[in-house]
Amino acid sequence: MPRAGANSVQFLIIVLFTIKRAISETTDAETLRKAHKKTPRLSASVVQNKRKSCPVQFLICKSQEILSWLPHYNWGMKRPYVFINVAMTADGKIDTISRRGAAISSPRDRERVDTLRADSDAVMVGGQTLLNEDPKLTVKSEVLRAERVARGLSPNPMKVCVITSATLPVHSKFLYEGSARVVIFTTNRTSKDKLEALRAGGVEVFVHSGYRVDLAQALGTLNELGVKRLMVEGGATLNFELLRLGLVDEVQAYIAPMIFGGESAPTLAAGAGLERSAAVPLKLTDVEKWEDGGVVLKYSIERSA
Ligand SMILES: NC(=O)c1ccc[n+]([C@@H]2O[C@H](COP(=O)([O-])OP(=O)(O)OC[C@H]3O[C@@H](n4cnc5c(N)ncnc54)[C@H](OP(=O)(O)O)[C@@H]3O)[C@@H](O)[C@H]2O)c1
Repeated sequence: MPRAGANSVQFLIIVLFTIKRAISETTDAETLRKAHKKTPRLSASVVQNKRKSCPVQFLICKSQEILSWLPHYNWGMKRPYVFINVAMTADGKIDTISRRGAAISSPRDRERVDTLRADSDAVMVGGQTLLNEDPKLTVKSEVLRAERVARGLSPNPMKVCVITSATLPVHSKFLYEGSARVVIFTTNRTSKDKLEALRAGGVEVFVHSGYRVDLAQALGTLNELGVKRLMVEGGATLNFELLRLGLVDEVQAYIAPMIFGGESAPTLAAGAGLERSAAVPLKLTDVEKWEDGGVVLKYSIERSA
């Protein structure tokens, strides 16, 4: 591309980023959060009400929605290589309707997950997974931990959580089991007292000003903290948002020979969902059929040119 053209594109990207940041800092966070809870695409009734009651706020909300749905809106931002790993049933469920972290992995799959963790710089989970399961996210194998140390790394990868309101208990396993750097991305819905308590416990906390954590910004921060390879271990909401925003490079899934069913049981990706025309395109890169009846599927994300 000629230099003048490239400069114009760069300028346009910077303008879009600036508008997006300004909007996310000035918009009524609570209104957006409520609208988003229903669906990130503003629901028909919210749209109608906003159009009538406050056209300016309607325009601000609509602009934010459109900007956040732009494919690859994270252009130009450096981020780690990101892969999602899940264990799911043959009907795509990653937990039962009880949502207490049901065991899905076989012993062999637990070993595979341990190796993936040991090969990563950081492991990320969503807030609901943290509150439901309180995972340690440590490397279980002593051999793998020793190998990391021999490579000049900490025994465990960095533990990362994305949580809108960080109400996790101060003595959680996520925070204190296994020696690891702990990073939390949250919003200003977390109380000042909680932020202080977490920081006093050695947790690195990043507070975002929007109604939810800005995932592209969080990945940029992780990149600056030295994370080159990030493993995302769910849950469904975090997986979906990362995929929707074009922030994922690879998906790995162990499919266990069982079915949970249940309309409210979480699947690999939840959130508001995508229309067929906006589906995240995958390329199957590997299939393994295991003796325990499970299958491991590996996909890369197909990026449009
Ligand atoms: N089988 C597996 O491999 C596996 C792995 C992990 C988890 N799980 C299961 O998955 C379930 C939990 O999944 P989940 O969908 O309920 O929750 P989740 O993805 O674990 O957590 C998402 C949380 O992060 C917060 N958040 C803040 N900013 C966000 C952003 N930009 N994008 C997305 N989320 C953001 C959300 O808070 P707000 O919505 O309040 O804003 C939400 O509570 C559990 O049942 C767990 O056991 C299964």
